[in-house]
Amino acid sequence: MAKRRLLFAASEVFPFAKTGGLADVAMGLPKALQAHFEVTIVLPLYASVDRAHWHIQEGESLHLRMNGLERSFTWHSTIYEGIEVLFVHEAALCDRPHLYGEPSHDYEDNAVRFGLFDHAIVARLEQGGFDVVVCSDWQTGLVPLLLQERASSIPSLFMVHNLAYQGNFPLSQAHDVGIGAGYLNADGIEFWGRMSYLKAGILTATHVVTVSQRYAQEILTPHFGAGLEGFLAHHAHKIEGIQNGIDTVEYPRQSDKKSAKIEWMARLGCKNPQLPLVVFIARFAHQKGLDMLIEALPRMLQTPCAIAILGEGDMRYAQALEALAPQFPTLFVQVGFNEKLSRALYSVADFLLMPSLFEPCGLNQLIAMHHGALPIVHGVGGLIDSVQEVTHFDATLPKGVGVVFDTPTADALVAAHERAMTLYNDRVFYERLSMHNLSLDFSWKQSAKRYQKLLDRLIKEAHRG
Ligand code: GLC
Repeated sequence: MAKRRLLFAASEVFPFAKTGGLADVAMGLPKALQAHFEVTIVLPLYASVDRAHWHIQEGESLHLRMNGLERSFTWHSTIYEGIEVLFVHEAALCDRPHLYGEPSHDYEDNAVRFGLFDHAIVARLEQGGFDVVVCSDWQTGLVPLLLQERASSIPSLFMVHNLAYQGNFPLSQAHDVGIGAGYLNADGIEFWGRMSYLKAGILTATHVVTVSQRYAQEILTPHFGAGLEGFLAHHAHKIEGIQNGIDTVEYPRQSDKKSAKIEWMARLGCKNPQLPLVVFIARFAHQKGLDMLIEALPRMLQTPCAIAILGEGDMRYAQALEALAPQFPTLFVQVGFNEKLSRALYSVADFLLMPSLFEPCGLNQLIAMHHGALPIVHGVGGLIDSVQEVTHFDATLPKGVGVVFDTPTADALVAAHERAMTLYNDRVFYERLSMHNLSLDFSWKQSAKRYQKLLDRLIKEAHRG
């Protein structure tokens, strides 16, 4: 039988455009599903996408009328690692310096911009040939809604990567983007007097997946539900969690981790390469536990260790970290995202810090464990699903090992860090734990099987009608 055709839609896809983990998943998962499906990926052709470098070819144009205005799109495409990648170009959506907004604020016309993206995706689906569509986060939330409005027989799977980003816009814009008035109530997509694209996706998709199992449960509670817990509970029957994987091919291991670490410690300017190297790599956002980290750092640095921090985002955090760095000879802060440095740090780190307040999945802990590091994590979401603290070595443990703390406070983080440093000093135990993490498979293999089964089921049920 010919393979089923899957369209994978996302607002960012590595290596073309990336602001966070979504981009990695939007390439890693389709790649892993390729053995079973004929996969096409679709994303906007942002100004920052290097057309020449990726051999992106221009194709047909498409004209859509939205709210009386004619909008012109052009399709573009390339083949990347055997996968067809479609890009849609429309001036308002694409010709901007950033994907979603300036560092200080989102673009004001994001409802229209991503509404246009979703209309283009649906137009493509209506041309025929696809058996199922997978969408991610609010930027593609209107895809399932428009399919439902048009009574399409194509089933949709909506992935929730982060409930905190909801795509909430004035209700007055609903008409502009082709949303019927019937959706504009609390049982529909209305949310605190606005409309939510995230709600649209969850409400109208055939099925919903969160990126870890624990997160699927957490979001039903007021603490993690971001105000949507009641709505989510109502739809819980079609929500499940599937843990993300990582594209392990993207993260080759060091053949000699010890000497690579010595080299990188020197490059950081660290005089003592024997110190344990603790790394923090993240967007500088409240979610990532920056407040806790900044408060805890001076105490953490009282124990002999080197701490390297890499990331960008909220200026407040960047400034606070840059102010701390000169006070501590073994604290290294680099503001600005640097893919090469981040990969190097993952590959040589002894520990990876992830004090996130909430974490739908988290990929960094998986990358770190794939390189044999031990994560120090706040026990939430995908972090608790992938990391366990152990006092006795047990080689049969299916999870990775590291240090886990339960309350998101600077005190708890300092205590966890101290436990980690004690572990490091027990060289035999540390090596065993590190070997355990190296022996585990963090690739997409297992999770892709679950997606495959789920998507096959959705296609089958759609045919049954
Ligand atoms: C978002 C989440 C993160 C998850 C990633 C990929 O960035 O915050 O936890 O790993 O999406 O699904």
